[in-house]
Amino acid sequence: MGSVSEKDRGSWGSKIAFIFAASGSAIGLGSIWRFPIMVGTNGGAIFVFAYILAVILIGFTVMLAELTIGRHTQKNPVGAFNSIKPHTPWKAVGYMGVATGVFILSYYSVVAGWALGYLYKTITGVFRGEVSWELSDHVFAHFAANPIEVLICLFIIIGLTTFVISKGVREGIERWSKVLMPLLFALIISLAIRALTLRGAGTGISFYLKPDFAKLNANILFFAVGQAFFSLSLGMGTMMTYGSYISKKDNLVSSAGWVCFSDSLVAFLAGIIIFPTLFATPGINPEGFKAEIGLMFQVLPLIISKIPGGYIFGVLFFMLLLVAALTSTISLLEVPTAFLVDERKWKRRKAAIFIGALSFLLGIPSALSNGGVSFLTRLGVMVKMDLIFGNIMLAVGAFFICIFLAYSWGVSNALKEIASGNKIFKVKPIWVFNIKFLAPFAVITILIFIIGIAR
Ligand code: PHE
Repeated sequence: MGSVSEKDRGSWGSKIAFIFAASGSAIGLGSIWRFPIMVGTNGGAIFVFAYILAVILIGFTVMLAELTIGRHTQKNPVGAFNSIKPHTPWKAVGYMGVATGVFILSYYSVVAGWALGYLYKTITGVFRGEVSWELSDHVFAHFAANPIEVLICLFIIIGLTTFVISKGVREGIERWSKVLMPLLFALIISLAIRALTLRGAGTGISFYLKPDFAKLNANILFFAVGQAFFSLSLGMGTMMTYGSYISKKDNLVSSAGWVCFSDSLVAFLAGIIIFPTLFATPGINPEGFKAEIGLMFQVLPLIISKIPGGYIFGVLFFMLLLVAALTSTISLLEVPTAFLVDERKWKRRKAAIFIGALSFLLGIPSALSNGGVSFLTRLGVMVKMDLIFGNIMLAVGAFFICIFLAYSWGVSNALKEIASGNKIFKVKPIWVFNIKFLAPFAVITILIFIIGIAR
């Protein structure tokens, strides 16, 4: 571990602690806010279908690859590539991941800030009583366009994240995740049940779950794969960094499986809440409907107001959503911080504050691009940031991680690492095939296709 002290680096308490922390990174706004938008803009159920395939065939494959590289090297992404293949350009993939993390953190924190704003609104009773679509839509548009409010929220989110990260892995990340994630899950299930029992829920359910295969195209595949990477925190070294804290006794395969499963389950349930509620609203139907960036914030108040004890429920829900978002921002900040601590020998606190400040500055244009400043709004800064960093860069990163593992480090070395803590690897032949051929080939084909379309 070089000259970096144990305290600055840290490790997980147990396998279950790792699963909670990694699921905490994965489960967040990606499944609850971003997934429904992707479904809503990419043809409904056909996207859900493509997404499930993407998680099973590509997401799981890359997840196991990242955990394996991380645990083997016990390093941040830059250090990891460097220690397996010293003095080669491979470490550029690590640098790319570190940079991508800072950019994603910047706009992701804006949305997390919206959740904070909504917690405040719910507490002060903005959504008391029957909430109409008009009211909900107006509240969101008004809030997202208020520069002072969104910037204050952004500042608080990044401040909290920086605080937790400067405390270190064990006390910081573990303690947050263990208690609150199961509670969030319980609340999501109750909302999903309520949404399914709404009058008129059928339209939303068939939009969400009855795929029209004629609609399938390259765009849908691209966004499905991109969403899988984003939602599972893959392609920039988050899972590599988290994997570096896993003990050699733990089973990487089942850990990867659990994280993929729990994240997808939450995304699936989020859709069950959003679409039936949305299309059970008078005047809104799937024909011609276009999901916007605030979809979750427009729809949640509608369903929360229909739950018995809605006020308390709403407050609790936004509180937990905020925690889920924070466990993800924490993991985003952890990658660049671990890089500075391991590679540049910075103190953890100084590294966290530096990157936190940088991502706050980078987040300002995104924060002001939803009605706050008209030219930033016209440019669609936040949507573009998400497209470039949340889809393209993560896909590029994941592609190189596959190629690195399969053709530079070598599958047999990876399998040795996987075998520690896991004697029988049931899906071994499938994983080997996927990491060598299917995942890199699928990702690069889709990327080339998309760049072709964009030109
Ligand atoms: N997976 C997180 C979410 O769904 C976002 C994230 C992306 C976190 C990439 C880390 C790395 O909310």
